[in-house]
Amino acid sequence: MRTVYLNGDYLPEDEAKVSIFDRGFLMADGVYEVTSVLDGKLLDFDGHAVRLQRSLDELDIRHPSSKEDLLEVHRELVRLNDITDGMIYLQITRGNPGDRDFAYPAPDTAPTVVLFTQSKPGLADSPAARQGIKVISIPDQRWGRRDIKTVQLLYPSMGKMMAKAAGCDDAWMVEDDVVTEGTSNNAYIVKGNTIITRQLGHEILQGITRAAVLRFAREAQMKVEERPFTIAEALAADEAFVTSATTFVMPVVEMDGQPVGTGKPGPVAARLREIYLDESRKAAI
Ligand code: PDD
Repeated sequence: MRTVYLNGDYLPEDEAKVSIFDRGFLMADGVYEVTSVLDGKLLDFDGHAVRLQRSLDELDIRHPSSKEDLLEVHRELVRLNDITDGMIYLQITRGNPGDRDFAYPAPDTAPTVVLFTQSKPGLADSPAARQGIKVISIPDQRWGRRDIKTVQLLYPSMGKMMAKAAGCDDAWMVEDDVVTEGTSNNAYIVKGNTIITRQLGHEILQGITRAAVLRFAREAQMKVEERPFTIAEALAADEAFVTSATTFVMPVVEMDGQPVGTGKPGPVAARLREIYLDESRKAAI
C-alpha cells in the first residue's frame, strides 16, 4: 500500500480522507501538478513549482507551503514509496468551508494539500515512443482559462474516451480551425527544419516540458515558430509530436486515420526526446 501526503501527514492511502464539502470535490476548485521521477530524482521540479504558484495566484488560493517544503514532501514520498521511475501528483484545493456556497470562503480557510506517487517502471523507455501514437481531432470545448492548471478535467477525459472509441490513443483539440493542444499535452508539427507549436496564451497550458523542449531545440539550431496551425497543415507536415511531463516527447504517427509524414516516428521527435531525457536526467534533483 502506498504512503500518501495529506495536509502535513504521511498516511497509508486508505486512511487519507478529504471532506465532502471540500471545494475541490464540489466545484473543481483546485489546481494540480504532475512531476516525473526518473532514477529516483525529480524532473524540472522548479518549473512545476513556479507554475503551481502562478495557478494558485490566478485563483486567489493561498499557497500553503514554501517551495522548499514542497520539495521535501516530494522527496519523502519518493523515498517512502521506493519510487525509481514514475510520477508525483500534487493537488491543492481551496479547502473545506464546511458547506456548499458559490462564493469563495473566508481567506483563512485552509487549503487542502494532497500528494501521491504512481510507480511506472521503465517510464522513459515506453514502447509507445518507438511506435508513435494515433490521434483524432475534436472540438476544444473546455473553458477559457486553460493556462491555469485546474483539476477540471472532464472534457479532456471525454476526449480520451472519444479517441479510445476511434481506436486511437489521444485527441488534439481544435478551436477556430486551429489546434490548441492535446488532451493532456502540448502539440507540435515539424516541417523541414522548423518546429511549429501554438503560442502561449489563455487557450493552452504553458507546458513545463514545452519550455524545456523549445529551449533545447533552439540550442540545437532548429527553427521554432510559435503560432497556430490547422489539422490540414499537420497532415501535410513531416512529423508531429506531443510533450508532457509524463510522456516527455512522444511522436504522433497518425491523425484522423491518415498517416503523418511517413507514418513512422520521425528523426526530429526522436532527437528531441533523446536531448530532453539526457538533459533532464542531468538536471534532476
Ligand atoms: N498534463 N496541456 C495540458 C492540457 C496538460 O494537461 C498538460 C500536462 C500539458 C503538458 O504540460 P507539462 O509539460 O507541464 O506536463 C499540456 C499532465 C501531465 C496530466 O494532466 O497528467
